[in-house]
Amino acid sequence: MKLKLRIWRQAGPEAAGRMVEYDLDGVSEDMSFLEMLDLLNENLTERNEEPVAFDHDCREGICGMCGVVINGIAHGGSATTTCQLHMRSFSDGATIDIEPWRAGAFPVIKDLAVDRNAFDRIIAAGGFISSNTGSAPEAHSTPVPKREADRAFDNATCIGCGACVAACPNSSAMLFTAAKITHLAMLPQGQPERYRRVKSMVAQHDEEGFGNCTNIGECAAVCPKGIPLESIAQLNRDLIASLFKADGKQ
Ligand code: SF4
Ligand code: FES
Repeated sequence: MKLKLRIWRQAGPEAAGRMVEYDLDGVSEDMSFLEMLDLLNENLTERNEEPVAFDHDCREGICGMCGVVINGIAHGGSATTTCQLHMRSFSDGATIDIEPWRAGAFPVIKDLAVDRNAFDRIIAAGGFISSNTGSAPEAHSTPVPKREADRAFDNATCIGCGACVAACPNSSAMLFTAAKITHLAMLPQGQPERYRRVKSMVAQHDEEGFGNCTNIGECAAVCPKGIPLESIAQLNRDLIASLFKADGKQ
């Protein structure tokens, strides 16, 4: 395949960025999107030009490091991660626009790589439990009803990629925050700090400069892990309940 790529190039956080055009030949439809960028970078390096900076790690859809806006849609619109998107989804001769996540709380570090430390600070504000760690407990020692166990597991699959923020017109991180809150709210181990957790994580979310949720739903549409809008409803229910309920342990 032959492609025309239009890529956001930005030398650093304070530098002005712009779209730069590249022609790329020899792309196989079996390549992943990141392997296609690797090929471009090999060509740029051979020509003594600066390669394009982009984030990646596992390349298996599990770490959440990769993520770019492809033709205006976070992760390209296939409800998968950028690393799991394959070039067979594009036509020979296609023009592809590639940009970083656009959100004030995710400043650009360089080219397509953005700083997502704001997510780490939201987790640090409450995304943990106080149970003792150690060897795995016997599986049936703390029974969890199947419906709650399934919801906890489904929400725990959030990989923190940030596509929900990039897709949201308000740059809200509510889907991400809601996934963490719902995961722990469904489990007995999450109860001791349940109401402190939601207050503290939502306060940190706002402090980081993410916008509020207005139920548009773009976040859930691009989420590679299928985190549903219902999780934001759970966050809202817990946030309202936190005004009236105190945790058992302070
Ligand atoms: S909720 Fe979905 S889109 Fe948002 S960070 Fe988690 S996995 Fe990524
Ligand atoms: S590189 Fe890990 S999810 Fe894409």
